[in-house]
Amino acid sequence: MLLFAFFTWLTLATLFVILPRHYYQHLPMQSEDQRDRPETGSMSAYFRWLLNCVPGCFQNKPWKRGLKVFRDLCVTPYSPQEKWIHIGLSLSFLYLALSGFFFAAILIRSLTGLLLVLHMILGGIFGLGLALTVLLRAKEYPVAENWPDPHEHRWETICFWIFAVSGFVLVLTALLMMLPLWDLIGHLNTVMVHRLAALSALLSAIAFVYFKWYRMREAK
Ligand code: HEM
Repeated sequence: MLLFAFFTWLTLATLFVILPRHYYQHLPMQSEDQRDRPETGSMSAYFRWLLNCVPGCFQNKPWKRGLKVFRDLCVTPYSPQEKWIHIGLSLSFLYLALSGFFFAAILIRSLTGLLLVLHMILGGIFGLGLALTVLLRAKEYPVAENWPDPHEHRWETICFWIFAVSGFVLVLTALLMMLPLWDLIGHLNTVMVHRLAALSALLSAIAFVYFKWYRMREAK
C-alpha cells in the first residue's frame, strides 16, 4: 500500500505541473518575464510563475470559483435530465475518490466501516451515472479516423475515454470483490487493480475538466 500511496502523490504532483504548463505556454505575451517562457527552455521562469500562482488559488473564496466552473461545465449547457446525471456522477465520484484515497494515500490502510458502506452505495450511483453519461456524451468525443481539433479537444476526448474505461474497470473490480471467486491473494490483487483504476479515473477526470474549461474559456 505504501508504494501505491507514493505513486498516487507522484502522479498527482506531475499532473499539477504539466497542466499549468499548457496554460502558461498559451498565455498571451504580456510582460517582460513572459518572454522567458518554457518553450524558450527556461523551466525556472515557469516554476517561478507556478509558485506565484499558488497563493492566488486559495484566495477569494476558491470554492465559489470551483462551483462556477462546475456549473458552467456540467450543468448550465444541458437539459434538466442531463444536469442531474452529471451532478449524480460528479458528486458520487467526488465521494468515492475522497473516501478511497483518504484511506489508500493518506492513512495508508484499507477502507473500512461506515465510509466503506457509503463507498459501495455511492458506487452504484457512480456506475449508473457513468453508463448514462457515456451514452449521452460519446457523440461529442469521436475517436480514430476523425480526431477532433483543436489540440485541446483531442486531449479532452482522450481523457473522456480513459475516464470511461477506468470507471468500467472500477465497477467490474468492485463486483468481482463481492464474489467468492478466488483466494485472499486473488482478492488483494483485485483491490490493487481497483486502486490503480481509481487513480487513472482521478487523473483523467482532473485533466478532462482542465481541457474542457480551457476550451470553453478560449471559445468566449
Ligand atoms: C463502482 C463503484 C465502486 C464500488 C462498489 C467500490 C467498492 C470498493 C470496495 C469494496 C473497496 C474496499 C476494498 C478492500 O479494501 O477490500 C474499495 C476500495 C477503494 N475504492 Fe472503490 N468502489 C467503487 C468505485 C470507486 C471509485 C469511482 C473510486 C475513485 C475514483 C474508488 C476508489 C477506491 C480506492 C482508492 C479504494 C482503496 C481503499 C483501500 O485501500 O482500501 N472506488 N472500493
